[in-house]
Amino acid sequence: MTPLQAALESTLNQLPPPEPEALDLSNRLLGRIIDEMAGNGNRLPFDRFMELALYAPGLGYYSNGLRKFGEAGDFVTAPEISPLFGRCIAGQCLEVMAQTGECDILEFGAGSGRLAADMLAELERLGHLPRHYFILELSADLRQRQRALLATELPHLARRVQWLDRLPARFRGILIANEVLDAMPVQRFRIGAGGVQEQFVGWESERLQPFWDEPQTQDLAQSLAALAERYALPPGYASEINLRARAWIGELADCLERGLVLLIDYGYSGREFYHPQRDCGTLICHYRHRVHSDPFIHPGLQDITANVDFTAIAEAGEAAGLECITFTSQAWFLIGGGLEGLLTQLPGFEQDPQRHLSQLQAIKRLTLPSEMGERFKVLGLTRGLKEPPSGLAFHSQPL
Ligand SMILES: C[S@@+](CC[C@H](N)C(=O)[O-])C[C@H]1O[C@@H](n2cnc3c(N)ncnc32)[C@H](O)[C@@H]1O
Repeated sequence: MTPLQAALESTLNQLPPPEPEALDLSNRLLGRIIDEMAGNGNRLPFDRFMELALYAPGLGYYSNGLRKFGEAGDFVTAPEISPLFGRCIAGQCLEVMAQTGECDILEFGAGSGRLAADMLAELERLGHLPRHYFILELSADLRQRQRALLATELPHLARRVQWLDRLPARFRGILIANEVLDAMPVQRFRIGAGGVQEQFVGWESERLQPFWDEPQTQDLAQSLAALAERYALPPGYASEINLRARAWIGELADCLERGLVLLIDYGYSGREFYHPQRDCGTLICHYRHRVHSDPFIHPGLQDITANVDFTAIAEAGEAAGLECITFTSQAWFLIGGGLEGLLTQLPGFEQDPQRHLSQLQAIKRLTLPSEMGERFKVLGLTRGLKEPPSGLAFHSQPL
């Protein structure tokens, strides 16, 4: 057992017990999962289990109405740390808009709505609001929270913000996803003695239990065979593959006539993701600011997430006709996009030294290599843009 695995295991033994109401929710979700297994040969592929655990209507982690974002929830994302994050991205959008002309912004998985509110406030300050700010969000509960936040903070912009159920047929502008790819269900695999195997989940001895079998689909079997060969994965090696994310990028590319796809998330290039030493994959769970490795406890009460293989995402985008312009760290993206300069432009900033200090702290958190600066990456894919925006203009890393 590696030191990291040992640390994750020890966290598992110290998780705070859920409140009775939360436990009841989790048990109902478990019933829903077991019912679906019963109609599917008493098993589910891991990605379907993860999809139910995160998105089952009314019960899944992102759909059940329990608090997840921020200090009182399970994890903190960049928009929750500082308004400067959204304001910096707004500046990047403005640079893209200068090339595309009047256009729209579409945000995927907008969480609490914080990023949307900060970006719109900044674009308004700059005098360049988009025609529409669309949000495509899977969770009905989060959609409600986003509506409430935007109605409170920017009621006069209500008409510009629209929630979509599916991608528009055609889109010109900026497509943004912050920490969305990591929340997409992944397939888990291992290199077995007789070939590549997929992880399934069953219900045995009153517990959710993982087990391995041949890949369920031809598409997965072929993708895994190609992956094993490309990265020379040895017997015993286990990891994840995200075929849904590849398909998703293809759909984005199909609708994007002109503009930028901006993907921000934790992850690696393919070579780093499938590094020989990373032989147990990257899947982790967040529960009340504790990180551990067991996705089968308390379904619906904990986030399940995997790092992003950005090489696979960039290649899927290129195969669908997009140009991959930059793969960089969050730190370089924000610094290149003028994050520091924005500090002094925050409303009320000069009268409030305490606020100044807390925003300086936030900048450190967003950019220091030991915090989010290096672990989080930014991938820019474009169609029909002559110039990358300034945050994507330098320090591109190999994919
Ligand atoms: C980790 S949260 C990030 C929330 C927010 N972007 C932030 O940075 O605070 C993941 C979000 O992605 C959403 N999501 C996951 N898959 C999605 C998809 N295919 N389309 C749209 N939203 C998705 C979830 O419902 C959730 O709102």
